[in-house]
Amino acid sequence: MATNITWHKGAVSLTERQELLGQKGCTIWFTGLSASGKSTLAAALEQTLLHAGISGYRLDGDNIRFGLNKNLGFGPEARTENIRRIAEVSKLFSDATVIAITAFISPYKADRDAARALHEAAGIPFIEVYADAPLSVVEERDPKGLYKKAKAGEIKEFTGISAPYEAPTSPEIHIKTHEVSINEGVQTILNYLIEKKLIQGDKLVKH
Ligand SMILES: Nc1ncnc2c1ncn2[C@@H]1O[C@H](COP(=O)(O)OP(=O)(O)OP(=O)(O)O)[C@@H](O)[C@H]1O
Ligand SMILES: [Mg+2]
Repeated sequence: MATNITWHKGAVSLTERQELLGQKGCTIWFTGLSASGKSTLAAALEQTLLHAGISGYRLDGDNIRFGLNKNLGFGPEARTENIRRIAEVSKLFSDATVIAITAFISPYKADRDAARALHEAAGIPFIEVYADAPLSVVEERDPKGLYKKAKAGEIKEFTGISAPYEAPTSPEIHIKTHEVSINEGVQTILNYLIEKKLIQGDKLVKH
């Protein structure tokens, strides 16, 4: 634990930063089983935002475990620490007026709620997006062959098979990825951002 530290306040407030840059940040927090579509939707959303001239940046579970979180495993404590760090990083991005898009299984409700509380205390919108598909569907998709390995006992503590997943009870957005296309999923999120005045709809119109 760090001691003898003092918060140094910047010379620019959050509102002033948003006005100067003409953009508002927020965190779009995907949660869902492996292969539910978090990374797919996150990448498509990021692409759409950037092509509209809106700064979005993706933090993806696997990618972050190559770097920042390479020292963490998949036990309950490591999963909590994984999410705690990502919550802090996504808060920094969104505080900097970027649309932070996180794609982590984030199986524990308490961890997601902690991420939400961190953002709300900083006055930054936190948008939980439940990428939802039944276990039978994600097992069938199995793009990385992980369910096959988990069922064969080759991967321990695999969410949905040998580790729990606590589904969100009141996410801001619920996308049933077995019922809608990737484009429709992205559009649902864009509509939400427009409705909440986090992005301007006219920027998304292709010229
Ligand atoms: N409507 C849809 N939305 C998102 N993905 C879909 C949809 N329909 C089919 N898919 C497919 O489902 C798979 C989802 O895999 P993806 O890697 O995005 O999952 P994930 O939630 O990021 O999993 P993990 O937690 O293992 O990283 C992809 O192969 C994608 O093409
Ligand atoms: Mg993924």
